[in-house]
Amino acid sequence: MTSNEIRSKYLEFFKSRGHAVVPSASLTPENDPTTLFTGSGMQPLIPYLLGQKHPLGSRVANSQKCFRAEDIDEVGDNRHTTFFEMLGNWSFGSYWKEEQLPWFFEFLTGVVGLPKDRLWVTCFEGDEESGIPRDTDSAAIWKGLGILEERIRFYDAKKNWWSRAGIPVNMPAGEPGGPDSEVFYDFGTKHDTAFGKECHPNCDCGRFMEIGNSVFMEYKKREDGKFEKLAQRNVDFGGGLERIAAASNGDPDIFKIDIFTAIGETLKAYTEAVDLKRKRIIMDHLRASVHLIAAGVEPSNKEKGYILRRLLRRAIFHVMSLTQKDALIPLGQRSPIGWDERTHVVINAIVIAVVKSYPELQEQEERIKSIIVKEIGKFTDVLKSRSELEKVVRGSSGRISGRDAFILFSTFGLPIDYIKDEAQRFKLEVDEVGFREELKKHQELSRTTSAGVFKGGLADHSEKVVRYHTATHLMHSALRKVLGEHVIQTGSNITAERTRFDFKHPEKMTDEQKKQVENLVNEWIKKDYQVKREFMPLQEAFDLGAIGAFGEKYAETVSVYTVWDPKTKEVVSREFCGGPHVEHTSVIGTFRLGKEEAVSAGVRRIRATIEP
Ligand code: SER
Repeated sequence: MTSNEIRSKYLEFFKSRGHAVVPSASLTPENDPTTLFTGSGMQPLIPYLLGQKHPLGSRVANSQKCFRAEDIDEVGDNRHTTFFEMLGNWSFGSYWKEEQLPWFFEFLTGVVGLPKDRLWVTCFEGDEESGIPRDTDSAAIWKGLGILEERIRFYDAKKNWWSRAGIPVNMPAGEPGGPDSEVFYDFGTKHDTAFGKECHPNCDCGRFMEIGNSVFMEYKKREDGKFEKLAQRNVDFGGGLERIAAASNGDPDIFKIDIFTAIGETLKAYTEAVDLKRKRIIMDHLRASVHLIAAGVEPSNKEKGYILRRLLRRAIFHVMSLTQKDALIPLGQRSPIGWDERTHVVINAIVIAVVKSYPELQEQEERIKSIIVKEIGKFTDVLKSRSELEKVVRGSSGRISGRDAFILFSTFGLPIDYIKDEAQRFKLEVDEVGFREELKKHQELSRTTSAGVFKGGLADHSEKVVRYHTATHLMHSALRKVLGEHVIQTGSNITAERTRFDFKHPEKMTDEQKKQVENLVNEWIKKDYQVKREFMPLQEAFDLGAIGAFGEKYAETVSVYTVWDPKTKEVVSREFCGGPHVEHTSVIGTFRLGKEEAVSAGVRRIRATIEP
């Protein structure tokens, strides 16, 4: 079965079981200071798992586009990808294990046609310290569905517990989580004892592949580190679309599924080199880059843009190394990698092939291509100058140190694979272990920084971030009043320290305009307007003049927040939004506009803070 068939049959299957099908949320989440990218289906749905009412009811299904930057270095084997689609079904206090596990089983065996005896399952063994019992209920359900007892295995929290922060001890207070039950497909390959004496579903020898995960999210971590039950029992199911397609192919190589076929063929047309690892890196990184650019990310040296740059440069380098004239000559004897017209041609052809598999990206094809072409230009300039690399090479005897390799990688944007290949030409080695250690130190540092944000994360969510959220709506509305109705949000990012708001506007704001916006927002805050939430049909919301973010897709029934005076019926802001928001504006505090600057042609970025 093709991936497109699996996706549409999956959504149909859950639709006919009372689920509202919702579109994929953005790959780059807004208003979530805890993460740069959407890495799982549950991330955009956290408010509903915590009890907020979903406008479309208590059963929802989707196919969420996900990106996991932490897997970049894993790409190259037959199963890891940084970008993937996660099929999801969600019960917000509706059904539970007895319904969800049999449904997934029926979908896999009855719809996709996977043989029952290829399926193994895992369940949570319990955690005394956190007071969470062994999940014998799920095991009994699997047994009842005909899964042999020897194929039902129990594991600890490292494998069978799910929360955004991982195992229970890493979860901040307020974070929801729960035990999960995973389904693995057995490809029947021979066990490799290098991975342990016995093979089992979580063995890394390549025989098993996880294809779906049902999280029974019924717990929330308390301030004292213990767990309490959430007000409702939720199910968060995530299934890997590409992995289910691979299982349906009976071949564990994800890169052989239909979505990658056209990309692979394109590459084959330009290179005879057989180097699976490099080819997989190109396929994955370019597919992910196309989706990230479509979601609004552009290569830069910061945050999301930096990750995109890393992906793109690695892909560009591998395209160069596979398609340059002497690609078949052993690496150590090749001429240096450098600019080559063919790089453009091959990458363009691959981008076209990716876009073909995702019709929703078609509108953006030219934009995506031009951003990538620009990055090829910047990267080849770095390669042409080569001075930094040569300095390091001249100063190294025998091997390039981990520290030097890391500086070339982080400061000069050279992919580690490139540094290794070049080192080989000069008969040098690279201290890769040292390099990985430097990288880890750097990642720890960014993790601690973001953990700081995370720690403030959920407790603050209920106070400061919520106040910022409503202040942002007021600012959006005030910008439209002062600058004109062409102003529309193109992005926003809210933390407990500030709000950052991107909007369409052709020129720099004057000081006078900034003052007017600030005064207007403060006036609305002082007047203590009420904030109300309503669910209504999309058309009605449009008719009422509700505004949203540019390019955002909306469901048929939407949630709308209105800031108004119930006595005079005066409305100062009405926006499509999932919330949460304050109940009345005077709790927001004093609003201060900060720096205003250009982000790209026709798009401005403004920051604002609130004082208690
Ligand atoms: N949240 C779970 C996961 O990402 C299931 O959706 O695996």
